Amino acid sequence: MSFIVALDQGTTSSRAIAVDEKGSILGIKQKEFTQHFPRSGWVEHDANEIWETQLEVTRALLDSIPQDVSQAAGIGITNQRETTLIWDRRTGQPIHKAIVWQDRRTSPICQQLIAQGANSMVQEKTGLLIDPYFCGTKIGWILDQVDGARDRARSGELAFGTIDSWLIWNLTGGRLHMADVTNASRTMLMNIHDGQWDDELLELFDVPRELLPDIRPACQVYEETEPSLFGQAIKIAGSAGDQQAALFGQNCSRPGMAKNTYGTGCFMLMNLGHQPQASKHKLLTTIAASPDPKPSYAFEGSVFIAGAAVQWLRDGLGIIESSSDVESLAASVKDTDGVYLVPAFSGLGAPQWDPEARGTIVGITRGTTRAHLARATLEGIAFQVADVLEAMQNDAGEKIQELRVDGGAAQNDLLMQFQADIMQTPVVRPKMTETTAMGAAYLAGLATGFFPSLDSIESIWEVERRFEPGMKATEVANRRARWAEALKRSQHWES
Ligand code: G3P
Repeated sequence: MSFIVALDQGTTSSRAIAVDEKGSILGIKQKEFTQHFPRSGWVEHDANEIWETQLEVTRALLDSIPQDVSQAAGIGITNQRETTLIWDRRTGQPIHKAIVWQDRRTSPICQQLIAQGANSMVQEKTGLLIDPYFCGTKIGWILDQVDGARDRARSGELAFGTIDSWLIWNLTGGRLHMADVTNASRTMLMNIHDGQWDDELLELFDVPRELLPDIRPACQVYEETEPSLFGQAIKIAGSAGDQQAALFGQNCSRPGMAKNTYGTGCFMLMNLGHQPQASKHKLLTTIAASPDPKPSYAFEGSVFIAGAAVQWLRDGLGIIESSSDVESLAASVKDTDGVYLVPAFSGLGAPQWDPEARGTIVGITRGTTRAHLARATLEGIAFQVADVLEAMQNDAGEKIQELRVDGGAAQNDLLMQFQADIMQTPVVRPKMTETTAMGAAYLAGLATGFFPSLDSIESIWEVERRFEPGMKATEVANRRARWAEALKRSQHWES
C-alpha cells in the first residue's frame, strides 16, 4: 500500500506525517526546535536546526511505519510562511539566522515606506499591507547587516528563500531553488496578478533579482529527493504555506468558504475563487493553494498571537502547568468579571496593523484571580478572530455561513463556544484536525495521481462538532464594545 508524506515545518516544531489513500494517518513524528529572542521584538530560527529536525522526523516516520520507502508516492511540503532566510549557494550555509514572521525589527523601515506613500502600490500588486511581518524588508535588513552580503547577492552567490525553498533546496541537495506560488505571495515581492517577481517591488525593497527562487505552482511534481537522504529518491510533488494548505485541507473549495487555524497566531482565510479582490478593511489578498493551474485567491486576516498567549500564561506567568489546563481553569469562573486581555504581544495584525501595540489587561480588581485571567486570555483570542471575521464579511458583502476551525486551541470547547457566540456565526470542527498537513498531502497526492481527483479527497472531510451561537445580541454588542475600548488602550504603545 503506497502513501504520501507531508512535511509540516511550523514555527515551533518540525513534523512529518504519512497518509494513505483513504486520508488515514499512518504515523506522525514531531520535534520542537529552539526559538531565539536576541532582543525585544526580535525572533530568529537557526535554519540548520530547522533542516536537521525536519530530516530527523521524516526519517523516524519512514522507519516507524510498516510500508517501505519505495511505496512513498510523493512528498508534500507545508511551512511557516514569511520567515526569511538567505544562504550561500555554494556552501548551502545560511549567512544569518532566519528572521521569523513574528519579528518586528523592520518596523521603522516599514513606517518610512508607509510615510513615503508606498502602501497603495504595494497593496495593489501584492494584496499585502506594508508591515514587518512580510519578507521584503527582512531581506533588506540581512543584506545591510551582513558584511558584503549586498554585493554577493548582486553577483548571484546568495539565495533567498522562505522555509519551503530551504527545505526543497536541502531535499534536492541544492539542485532546485524554487518557491511555491503561495509562499511567494507572502514575500511582498511578487505580483499576485501575474504570479511573477515584480521589478518595481524589487526596487522599492532594494532586493537584487539574482537572489530569488523560481516560482512554481503549489501542485506539481517538482523534483526528486537526493537518494541518500531516505535510502531512495522520493518525488517532491506539492508545496504550500501552512495557512493556504489548511484552507485546502479544510475543503474550503468554493468562494465564500472560510477557515480559521488556532496556532501560535490565528489565521482566517476565505476562498475568493479565481477573482482577486482588494480588501477595504485591511485584510490581505493572497494566493490560495489549488491543483487548478488558473490562480485562486483568498482573503486572509492574520492575528499574530493566539496559542502563544496561552503559552505565556504557562511560561510567563506560571498560572497553568500545561496549555490544556487553560480550559478547566477558565471554566472554573462564570465570566471574566470585567477583565479584558488584549494579547498584542508582538503588535497587532489584522485588521488594525499596529506594530507598536502591546499586550494590555484592563478591568483588574482585587477580586481578579488567575481563573479570570485565563478566561480573559481565551476571550481575547476569540475577540480578535471576531474582528477579522467582521472585516471579512464587510469586504465580501455577505455573511459567512460557518467558520471551519483547526489547530491546537480548536480542541478547546469553551473557546469554540465563545467564538461562535461572539461572532454570531456557527463554528465547525472537523474530525480530522491535521488539516495543514492534509492540505500538503492532498496537493502532492493530486500531482502524483495518488489521489485521482478532488472528489476523492472531499469525502475525507467530516464534521466532528458544530458550535451554534447562543449569546443574546445585546450582550454580544456590549462585550464587543468593551473589547474595542480595551483594544484602543493597547494601540500605539511603543511610539
Ligand atoms: O504566517 C505565519 C504562519 O504561516 C505561521 O503559522 O502554524 O507555524 O504558527 P504557524
